Amino acid sequence: MSDSGLATLRDYIRWAISQFSQAQVFFAQGSDSVFDEARTLVLGSLHLPYELHDKYLDCNLHTDEHAIVQSILKKRIEQRIPAAYLLGETWFAGLPFKVDERVMIPRSPMAELIPQRFSPWLIKVPQRILDLGTGSGCLGITCALEFPDAEVILADMSEQALQVADENIALHQLGERVYTLRSDIFAQLAGQRFDLIVCNPPSLQTEQWAQLPREFQYEPRQSSRSGCTGLEFIHQVLQQASQHLSNKGLLVLDVGQHRSKLIELYPMLDFTWLEHSQVGSAVLALTAQQCAACQ
Ligand SMILES: C[S@@+](CC[C@H](N)C(=O)[O-])C[C@H]1O[C@@H](n2cnc3c(N)ncnc32)[C@H](O)[C@@H]1O
Repeated sequence: MSDSGLATLRDYIRWAISQFSQAQVFFAQGSDSVFDEARTLVLGSLHLPYELHDKYLDCNLHTDEHAIVQSILKKRIEQRIPAAYLLGETWFAGLPFKVDERVMIPRSPMAELIPQRFSPWLIKVPQRILDLGTGSGCLGITCALEFPDAEVILADMSEQALQVADENIALHQLGERVYTLRSDIFAQLAGQRFDLIVCNPPSLQTEQWAQLPREFQYEPRQSSRSGCTGLEFIHQVLQQASQHLSNKGLLVLDVGQHRSKLIELYPMLDFTWLEHSQVGSAVLALTAQQCAACQ
């Protein structure tokens, strides 16, 4: 037992729940509740799986383990570092991804949509897929595993993000058909066409970003902020996507909070809104022909 009187994994998880609640730690970057965050951090810090059987929760910690768990919980509470960065790992669509402060922590509702293969909107099994604004590579790598014959490009403006995406390509052993490319939106993709483009763009206004809880300030600025309206990246994707989609291609775009604004700004477009369980975040789909109307 440590000086604190805490002895078992269960003690630490219970204690972390109390401490996180009292300190009003914020969760929205991978976990969805104080219980989830406490379990993720206590078990993750000791390299134990999240699904660890209940019987192990009453095991006493080794002396060294007390120090490891206490140190990580202290950093979470005092410095507000997100759990995924403290552990160097997170889960997306049931898959592990390496993450650190070079990339946004994956949380797009596309985690639910990719395993459904965008059915019935994606009518052709994609041979070429683009993940635009890839960050950790989570969307493109999940697509690559869902469509095992596809070639996938992971594009991002940030060289640092692409280093993390490369690590995740290696983690999932996809180096033969998944590649990274540095590109400012579509600028370095001239003449290239894809059967599926997935994109979770930066979509916050600069002012909104500054008001987010401290946890979000650890993420790269360019992963969240998109000008004074939050719509700059989205406009460019909508206007240029038709030049990069094959005839039966589909654009799937996570537009966050901008659903009603986009309906107002693009009255000529009949957006398809994909259903998922995340409140306040919208994902649209457009065919190549529909995208042509945005040009
Ligand atoms: C919201 S994050 C999404 C990351 C990842 N796709 C995900 O869903 O977790 C947006 C990403 O777009 C990238 N980005 C920002 N501006 C860009 C630009 N002009 N061209 C390409 N990528 C850009 C950022 O570096 C960041 O990785």
